Amino acid sequence: TRPFRVGIAGLGTVGASVVRILSRQNDILARRLGRPVAVTAVSARDRAKDRGIDLSTLAWFDDPVELARSGEVDCVVELVGGSDGAALRTVETALSHGKHVVTANKALLAKHGLALARAAEEKGVALAFEASVAGGIPVIKTLREALPGNRVSRLYGILNGTCNYILSRMELEGLTFADCLKDAQRLGYAEADPTFDVEGFDTAHKLAILTSLAFGTEIDADAIYVEGISSITPLDLAMANELGFRIKLLGVAERTSTGIEQRVHPTMVPKSSAIAQVMGVTNAVTIDADAVKELTLIGPGAGGDATASAVVADIADVALGKSEPPFGVPARTLEKAPRAPMQRH
Ligand code: NDP
Ligand code: HSE
Repeated sequence: TRPFRVGIAGLGTVGASVVRILSRQNDILARRLGRPVAVTAVSARDRAKDRGIDLSTLAWFDDPVELARSGEVDCVVELVGGSDGAALRTVETALSHGKHVVTANKALLAKHGLALARAAEEKGVALAFEASVAGGIPVIKTLREALPGNRVSRLYGILNGTCNYILSRMELEGLTFADCLKDAQRLGYAEADPTFDVEGFDTAHKLAILTSLAFGTEIDADAIYVEGISSITPLDLAMANELGFRIKLLGVAERTSTGIEQRVHPTMVPKSSAIAQVMGVTNAVTIDADAVKELTLIGPGAGGDATASAVVADIADVALGKSEPPFGVPARTLEKAPRAPMQRH
């Protein structure tokens, strides 16, 4: 049988893990999909870098856009990063050439998700992005596929592993912000530019994607109030602790009587609450909806293997021909929701 041919653009923390997992899970994937998944092409900047993976039999592209154009792939996996530039050109090129796309790039989706979803739907190909929000937690699939019997009223959660890791270690181990951030970078949790993590923008990108899926609305990242954790001090954490609270960076989206409210900011949560127990790189998302009431998903929010787990799940869905509209309903039917003014909480 002809394999499902995958091209991987970006061989960093996530890309290299995807290659390793596809190789490790080769047999089980072939049985599940009825054909093997074969990585046929790869792209990164530095061909000489040792990535701990054997690339000798794969087509190499210095330019991921050329990979996206190549006749050697059925599905382009974009793991380059960045909201524009090479990542955007790669995804646009892949879609315009009728290739499926899997991406973990929330910055790209928060800015161009609607246009890219339209392009994918026009071409009848998949645009899959489970890994773009909350690493290994299947929250996109949950919102898109598991809740059609529900009207979602609110969702909130810890959506950035780096920030939760920093806040946890500052509080529990008394380490400095700078040292914790350095460790998060070394462990592959942080963005290439960690400002996106610590200033709350990465959480905002993810919240924008979840809001669209939860409420059937166009992505509206510009509407989000954003405040990060860079000014949180050990004294803030100690004071919160004394009052019976922990500080968490939360993303919150809520349907109000005037529209959709979206916000990202450090929040004092009671130490006895479930969300206060979520420590380290772990993420958590709670969805309030009329039928299921309250649903919480908890799991690893960042890191190579956890994120690659979600990427591989998308590759398997695409290979199986699953073709949900990327945002659950056809992109042209997504509503432009009014922005609700932020309420004081
Ligand atoms: P890395 O910085 O580790 O890897 C990026 C890869 O892209 C590198 O292999 C790099 O090449 C390659 N690259 C960058 N620019 C170009 C270019 N212009 N042309 C060709 N190749 C290029 O990033 P991550 O793996 O951490 O993240 C990848 C994506 O996944 C991002 O969108 C990120 O936001 C997202 N993500 C990351 C998570 C994580 O935990 N790390 C979790 C969830 C999502 P080279 O190696 O040669 O420098
Ligand atoms: N930098 C991101 C985080 C990666 O720390 O959560 C996962 O999206």
